[in-house]
Amino acid sequence: MKHKRGFASDNNSGIHPDILKSIERANSGHVIAYGDDIYTRRAILKIKEHFGKDVEVFFVLTGTAANVLGLTVSTNTFNSIICAETAHINVDECGGPENFSGCKVIPVETPDGKINIGSLKKHVRGFGFEHHSQPKIISISQPTELGTVYSPDEINELGKYAHKYNMLLHMDGARLSNAVVSLGVEFKDITADAGVDILSFGGTKNGMLFGESVIFFNRKLAENFKYIRKQGMQLASKMRFISAQFETYLTNDLWKKNAVYANNMAQLLYRELSELKQIKITQKVQSNSVFAVLPGKYIKKLQDEYFFYVWDEGKSEVRFMTSFDTTEEDIYTFTQFIRQTVK
Ligand SMILES: Cc1ncc(COP(=O)(O)O)c(C=O)c1O
Repeated sequence: MKHKRGFASDNNSGIHPDILKSIERANSGHVIAYGDDIYTRRAILKIKEHFGKDVEVFFVLTGTAANVLGLTVSTNTFNSIICAETAHINVDECGGPENFSGCKVIPVETPDGKINIGSLKKHVRGFGFEHHSQPKIISISQPTELGTVYSPDEINELGKYAHKYNMLLHMDGARLSNAVVSLGVEFKDITADAGVDILSFGGTKNGMLFGESVIFFNRKLAENFKYIRKQGMQLASKMRFISAQFETYLTNDLWKKNAVYANNMAQLLYRELSELKQIKITQKVQSNSVFAVLPGKYIKKLQDEYFFYVWDEGKSEVRFMTSFDTTEEDIYTFTQFIRQTVK
C-alpha cells in the first residue's frame, strides 16, 4: 500500500534507503550486545569526526529520552531548567524532564521560539537562596520548534551567559542537521565551539528509522550517564542497529543532502504560499517548516485531504513540515489544492 505524503511532520516519513541498507548490512551474525560492538565504535568515531574528538557519546532510542536523560544527569532535583515556552521539553515530553530530573522547568515567553539574555534575566536569580530552585540549565532547541535558527553568535552569547552563572547550555538538536545547513556552518561551529555542554543529536527526523544520541562536550557530566541511561530504560541491547544508522547518516554527507533537500522543499512551499493573499506566513522559514495563518473555515477541508497540524487554534495558525522525501510535485499539488480551496 502506498501512503500519501502529507505535511504534518518529518516524523511521518519513512527511512532513507541508504539507512535501511545499513541496517541490513549490520544484520549479520552475532555481536556483543549493549554497544560493545564494532558498529557502535565506528559510529562514535564518526560523531567525533564531526563534533570533535573530546566528546562523550551515548546512543538512545528517542529524542525525548536524549533530552530527559541528558538533563537528568546534569542536574540535581533542586535545580531549574530554563527554556522557551515552545520547547519540546516544556510542551511535548509529558513532563518527562520534571519527572526524571526532579527539576523545575521554567518556560520563557518568546515570539519566535528563541530565547535571549534579556528574556532570561528575570529567571537567572536566587542563587544560594534555599527557598528558590537553583538555575542550572539553559536549554535551547536548534532549530527551534518554530523552525527558526539561532546564529552561532547567539549561541555563543547564551553559552557565555550560562557559564558566567555556573550554569550549563543544553541544546535539543533533534533536527540539528537542518540548522547546520541553513547556517552554512559545521556541526562544531554551533555546538562544541559555541559553548554547548550537552547536546541531543537526532537522526530520526532526517532519514533514520530510530536512534538519537547524547553528546557531552563537558565530559565530566558524562561520568554517570551510563547508569542514568540504563535506569532510564534506554540502553538498547541491539545497539548495533542504532549505531549502523548513525555511521551511514554521517558518511558521504547523507545528513547534509537530506537536510538541504528538506529545507529547500520548505523554501519552495514558502514561495508558493506567499503568492496567496489569504495566507500569512508567521515565522521566518529557516529550516524545514512553514508556519502560516489562514482563514479558519478552510482548515478542515484542507485537513480532509492532507495531514498537517494546527499549531495555534486561536490564531488559525498551522504548521507545514517538509521532509527528506517530500517531492516538488507534492508541494505543487498541495499548494494547488490550497489555492483552489481558499479562493
Ligand atoms: C525539537 C524536538 N525535540 C525532541 C523531539 C523528541 O523526539 P521523539 O519523538 O523521538 O521522542 C522532537 C520530536 O518531534 C522534537 O521535535
